[in-house]
Amino acid sequence: MIRVFEPRKALSTETAEWLREGSPLADVKESENRESMSEDEKRKSLQKLYHSIQEDPDYRNERMGDVFVPGRGGCADGCLVFVGEAPGREEELRGIPFIGQAGRNLDTLLAGVGLDRERVFITNLLKYRPVNGAGGNRTPSSQESRRALPYLLEELRILLPSLVVCLGLSPARPLLAQPGLKMSRSNGILFREHGLRIFVTFHPSPLNYSIPKKREALWDAFRRLREISSGPSHCHSS
Ligand code: URA
Repeated sequence: MIRVFEPRKALSTETAEWLREGSPLADVKESENRESMSEDEKRKSLQKLYHSIQEDPDYRNERMGDVFVPGRGGCADGCLVFVGEAPGREEELRGIPFIGQAGRNLDTLLAGVGLDRERVFITNLLKYRPVNGAGGNRTPSSQESRRALPYLLEELRILLPSLVVCLGLSPARPLLAQPGLKMSRSNGILFREHGLRIFVTFHPSPLNYSIPKKREALWDAFRRLREISSGPSHCHSS
């Protein structure tokens, strides 16, 4: 049985405020319907969007790396979109999202439920690596997440996915406008917000994956998302 949470009105209002407050994409409308685009057209629109992020002087700050890591993958209408937090060091080196150990865990999970990495779209809330004082990765601040959210929403509007999968709370909290969201209450749950079906699970980080309870919860969630993701277009086999 899949539990579906409808958004509460107040949460949508909060999101709308986030979008209004200093949003670089003031014209992005929530749940805006748009004509279907071919994959080629989508790629062109994504390139324009990625260009505008790189041109935005307020998106990247001095506590972020300077390598832009765009989303990547199959983008047919109805595709599955996986959203992580931000690129790490290995992603930054290669300019590809989820290519380090977390990416290898993600590949195992995808393959284990018959999903093809090349056919799903993989992206991050932040497109630059947040760096701490010692040069390591850090969690993005809420201000950085707020700044990135309208661009992520525009990316999703272009992609027109059947399901958005938030890998961890960093993308889930801003996307669902629930700053207090807890994984204990959201793993494997399908939400509806911004006219999107949004599914939440753990981040497949090496730490989470090494903890048996979390690894099992990830597997349960991936089996469930395989059940609810419609159509064979992103799968190895139908
Ligand atoms: N973690 C993320 O959230 N994104 C990546 O691309 C890699 C690790």
